[in-house]
Amino acid sequence: MSGSCDVTRDAARIPTAAMRIRPLRRADVPIMRDGFASGVAAQTTRWTFPRSLPSMLGWFDDIERAKGHDVFAILVEGRVVGITSLRPPRYSGRELTIAIFDPGMRGRGVGTFAVTTLCEYGFSVLRLARIELGVYPSHHAAIACYAKCGFKYEALLRRFLYQDGAWRDGMWMSLLRSEAKGRSAIGRDKK
Ligand SMILES: CC(C)(COP(=O)(O)OP(=O)(O)OC[C@H]1O[C@@H](n2cnc3c(N)ncnc32)[C@H](O)[C@@H]1OP(=O)(O)O)[C@@H](O)C(=O)NCCC(=O)NCCS
Repeated sequence: MSGSCDVTRDAARIPTAAMRIRPLRRADVPIMRDGFASGVAAQTTRWTFPRSLPSMLGWFDDIERAKGHDVFAILVEGRVVGITSLRPPRYSGRELTIAIFDPGMRGRGVGTFAVTTLCEYGFSVLRLARIELGVYPSHHAAIACYAKCGFKYEALLRRFLYQDGAWRDGMWMSLLRSEAKGRSAIGRDKK
């Protein structure tokens, strides 16, 4: 989910060959914790942070045990710059989440690459029929990114979330397998 947007668009695009996603590793968790704790995604997502490292590692271990929630690190030139996931759905299929921690890595094609690649995995490996996501209606950059990846508007969820002392609307989008055109670049190495 998102509110205001701090994406800058004057930086050079990242070459596709420099980007990849791979399953999140336990060693990535401190990077993820620091990324969210910095506050750069606080206004535009539903994550509630800061959390301690032990609680984040517990979260990671729960995900490993539970299955049904696939979390990937987003890498640019080998460096983890964000995470993206397919988690149990609110409605049907799986729910996509994404956060690029480094603001300098936004607006350069990384989100489009990660969403497209993750959807390809969801449709081809998990055999999902549908991937859905929530976004704040004011988060124009995210909505444009999802639309570029093929997601379609489904609904306005009125007073969907209570955040920072106020109710906020949510916007729901989805992509069906029959609509998806993706590519695959998933690293299979888990550890
Ligand atoms: C939202 C987010 C995932 C988008 O990823 P990104 O790498 O910044 O997006 P991309 O560079 O792939 O841009 C894709 C499209 O979105 C649009 N877009 C990107 N930045 C934009 C901006 N600042 N203003 C308007 N449109 C923008 C463009 O249409 C762009 O396509 P184009 O470059 O061909 O014109 C990323 O900015 C992010 O992680 N933000 C913080 C966390 C967050 O808000 N997560 C999403 C919660 S729903």
